[in-house]
Parts: sequence; structure tokens; C-alpha cells
Amino acid sequence: MTATIPGAPVDDVRARSSRRTLIVTDIVDAATGIRSFTLAAPDGAVLPGFVPGSHLIVGAGDCTNAYSLTNDGVAPTSYQISVLRLADGNGGSRWMHDMLSVGDAVEVELPRSAFPPAARATKHLLVAGGIGVTPILSHLRAATRWNRDVQVLYTFRPGCGAHVDEIIALAGREAELFVDQSAFTERLTATLADQPIGTHLYLCGPSGMIDHVVATARGQGWPESRIHLERFGADALDAGEPFTVRLTESGLTVDIPSGTSVLEALEGNGIAVANRCRQGVCGECRIPLSAGTADHRDLYLSDDEKSAGDAFMPCVSRAAAGCTLEVPL
Ligand code: FES
Repeated sequence: MTATIPGAPVDDVRARSSRRTLIVTDIVDAATGIRSFTLAAPDGAVLPGFVPGSHLIVGAGDCTNAYSLTNDGVAPTSYQISVLRLADGNGGSRWMHDMLSVGDAVEVELPRSAFPPAARATKHLLVAGGIGVTPILSHLRAATRWNRDVQVLYTFRPGCGAHVDEIIALAGREAELFVDQSAFTERLTATLADQPIGTHLYLCGPSGMIDHVVATARGQGWPESRIHLERFGADALDAGEPFTVRLTESGLTVDIPSGTSVLEALEGNGIAVANRCRQGVCGECRIPLSAGTADHRDLYLSDDEKSAGDAFMPCVSRAAAGCTLEVPL
């Protein structure tokens, strides 16, 4: 028998109320394989503002993807995103590149914050790799706007640097660009070792780069509370350790192997959970959590919702180390 578990009603209401139709007003090639899109309200009205590091959830053909906003979030009259065309992704980026033209309508859900700046930081050290420059650019704009101390290290493959001119214009001599990996690694190590107390590190890029930067920072004694990172999506997440989910109402126990999501395991046991993006961005698969601690990996739940610990997104989130999760299903 197959049961379908819908998302929580309150979640549906939130998702519906945040949906908008926007119009593509500009498309620019930002670098090899990267295209920047400007989206605006049909009547040109000011859109809801957003904090640095926020993302926009975009209906891209049959897919629902999250893209970091790159423009200034104070009273914006448009939302700007830059999209890397992925040959082996879920097809959303190809749809954006190949199907969208100026004047087309796009369905979006309003910006969500999952990578905000720390208010108490005395300095922002921003490290970007490849398309990971997009949330970093938004952090840089805000730091510049509010006259915060900021420094940028940006590494990319030759010819693939997006938003380079804007970064140099905003950060001046505090921006350093690298197309050579060993030069980046050397400079990163020295930079991390030479920061004033109160500096917070923000990084976004390929998983390998993130892991290297985090390991270097930890090795130098950086506390976890001053390291902030954003990974690209479900594909960038590690396979995780095996764990167990107990379904308290049906009495079922479901083993979740490494590399298999809770959503996939539930489906494999005949339990269909409503879902859409399968990447932790749309909110559709949200299910309640009655016991255990989740390792939240989604971009949908707010920090407060994650702290409350009474719901999780089974398409990407797993159990915290050594935990069993219980869900009232
Ligand atoms: S299916 Fe979209 S958040 Fe899980």
C-alpha cells in the first residue's frame, strides 16, 4: 500500500503566500557558462528586501532550483541571479539558459535567508570559488554599504570568473583574484592566519574547496561560530552515515543507508511523501519530527525552525551523529 504524506498545512500557506510571477527584464552572459538574469515585478514595483546571502527559489521548467541573489537587498526593484549551466544537473540550469528570454514570466518564491552575515563581526573575510561568488557578492555589497571592514579571495578557472569587475569596484585592493590553485591555497593559509579578533569567515564554492578552507581554518584554531558556509545543493552534500528512522504510528522502522535520503528510503518502503525539488529548497516534503536531532541540510527551514527541531526535510536532511529520528507517521 502506498500512502502519501502531504507537507504541513502551515507550510503550504507560507509557500503559497510567498509565490510571485516575475518578468525577465535582462539577460547577460557573465562568464563562460554563466548567465545573469534580472527579474522584476510586472508593474515595476519595489520587491520585498532581503539580507545578504539570501536565495531565490525559481521554477525552472520541470525543476525547482535555488539561486543566490547578487544584487543589493535594500528596497530592490529587481532580483538578480547568475546561473551556471550544468550539463549533468537536474536540468533547471539548462532550462534557464536555453529557454528563457527577456519578457518571459517566471514563477518564484520570495527570497529566503540561509547564509546571513553575523551582526557582531568586526570584519568579513569572504572566500569564493567559481559560481560560489554569487552569495559572496551579495555579502560584499552589504559590507560596503554599511562601511564594514571586508576582504575577498576569489578563485576561478581561467575565463570563468563572473562579476569580477563588480568585486574589484566594491572591494578595491581588498579583493584578490586567483586562477592558479596553488597561489590561492598559499594566500588563503596566510590570510586565515592574519586576521583581527572578531573576523568572521564566509565561504561558498565547490565542496572540495569548502572542505579545504574549513580544514585550514580549524587547523589554525578558528572557532566554528566564526565559520559560515554555503554549499551548492543536494549534489554537493556528502553521503552521510547510516541511521534509522522510526515511524511511531505505523510501527515501521526504516534503515537509511549512506548515500540514500530519508525520502528515497520511505518511498522504497511504500510511503510516498509529497515532494518537488528533492534538493531541500521548495519546502514540499517537510515532515514532522517527534524525537531525535536532525542534521538540517536544507535551504528552506529558517534558523528558528531548525532550532525548534520539530520538522525536517527528508529529501536532504539526515540524523545528527548517533541519533535515531522518530516521525509521527
Ligand atoms: S522536495 Fe523540496 S525541500 Fe524536499
